[in-house]
Amino acid sequence: MGTIRELKKIPLSVRIRQQENSGEEENLMDKFVIRGGNPLVGNIRISGAKNAALPAMAAAILTEEPVILENIPDVRDIQTERKLLVSMGAEVELGYGRASHRTTISCRNLSSPEAAYEVVKTMRASTLVLGPLVARMGRARVSLPGGCAIGARPIDLHIKGLEKLGATITQEHGYIEAAAERLRGGLISFDKITVTGTEDLMMAATLAEGETVMENCAREPEVADLAALLNKMGANIEGAGTSIIRIMGVSKLHGARHRIIPDRIEAGTFLIAGALTGGDITLTSCDPAHLGALLHKLEECGVTVQPGTDTLRITNGHRLHAADLTTEEYPGFPTDMQAQYMTLATQAEGTSVVTENIFENRFMHAQELVRMGANIKVDGRRAVVHGFTPLSAAAVQCSDLRASASLVIAALVADGETIIDRVYHIDRGYERIEEKLRGVGAQIKRIGEILPKRTAAPVGAA
Ligand code: EPZ
Repeated sequence: MGTIRELKKIPLSVRIRQQENSGEEENLMDKFVIRGGNPLVGNIRISGAKNAALPAMAAAILTEEPVILENIPDVRDIQTERKLLVSMGAEVELGYGRASHRTTISCRNLSSPEAAYEVVKTMRASTLVLGPLVARMGRARVSLPGGCAIGARPIDLHIKGLEKLGATITQEHGYIEAAAERLRGGLISFDKITVTGTEDLMMAATLAEGETVMENCAREPEVADLAALLNKMGANIEGAGTSIIRIMGVSKLHGARHRIIPDRIEAGTFLIAGALTGGDITLTSCDPAHLGALLHKLEECGVTVQPGTDTLRITNGHRLHAADLTTEEYPGFPTDMQAQYMTLATQAEGTSVVTENIFENRFMHAQELVRMGANIKVDGRRAVVHGFTPLSAAAVQCSDLRASASLVIAALVADGETIIDRVYHIDRGYERIEEKLRGVGAQIKRIGEILPKRTAAPVGAA
């Protein structure tokens, strides 16, 4: 890879191409092999939050000056966002070595305000560029995301909100075309709480003429983190993190440097792994204040977690109690922790009823857990989990990001060697999870079936 000085001599475009060819395709065939039964012991450093980093990268579109983001997680979705911004003409430099979690984004020369279907279909969060593009460039062409494994997930509220800010929106050939000479402030009252909807329109309103008031907003920590960045860029936002956000538009934004908040979902995932495998793990560089609902639920199940300023220690050596769960918007129990909690419920004494309120199809992991010996009955948005059931190793496959995490946790407690297929789902949002788990004593290995390039047709092949 060479020293940083040597690397800096390599032109950016070449470095980007090197990154692009760095064998991403290879990972698509990867599997995890996990031998269960090891207690996890030691420290795990929590990465920056994917769901805070993605909108922060989109926010760079709002200014022609460089935006420097630190504590960026090294996960696939960040690579996709970088590709998206580069395809519009942005310069996106990802740090190396000690700076590997920093990115510098310059959107001085955006040539094409478009998010193509090829990118949007791999990552719905690409639609977060819609508001910033209209606000800065006066127009945007963004592919509609299409269906998703966990639900329909339309973006009608993003569109409705932009229309409230004076944009003209048309839809053709699977694309949203939005235009506005200059957006103007207005009142947006969300029919439903939407995280990226709140973020997208908050970004758009920063450059609108006059004041925008947004009601029934998402209160997730990632929304407040985005507002903190935008205010550093010269925006005028109040109330982020509450259900009412006020934005006084400005004519121009400038560059800024910002550190992304820790990933509360990654932290929650490791907490549940710690609770089920026994042992003693401490999560570092995390923010316990963002995990209130999960910590309460773990307490209800009989697990003690010791929070520090930026650490969480979990030691658990005893059987858990069953507890019902309903997913809600923040500060309620996060839907992104529901799958991992379901694995916990299979290991608890008694019956837990899990109700998924946010997405209509987010129980794909249940059948895979049943393959490992769990007793789960799914009925629409409710799943009834009968515990305690010993889990045994099996071949299972991931269907989406968080479902994959629930299977990894299940494999850590199962008897035998589990093979988990399609782990590219987990690479989208967890930074080197197998290395972090191995660091605390898990027996986990990534195997990649790198099929050799076919050179010539085998002799006698039709
Ligand atoms: C964000 O998705 C997160 N993604 C999701 O995390 C998370 O599950 C979700 O919020 C809920 O917490 C990012 O931040 C990048 P929503 P988002 O808009 O914003 C409906 C992960 O695992 N809705 O808050 O797309 C929607 O269908 C991912 O990291 C509309 O009907 O979710 C859903 O039922 C998965 N119309 C509900 O609102 C709209 O225009 C909440 O969705 C928008 C949303």
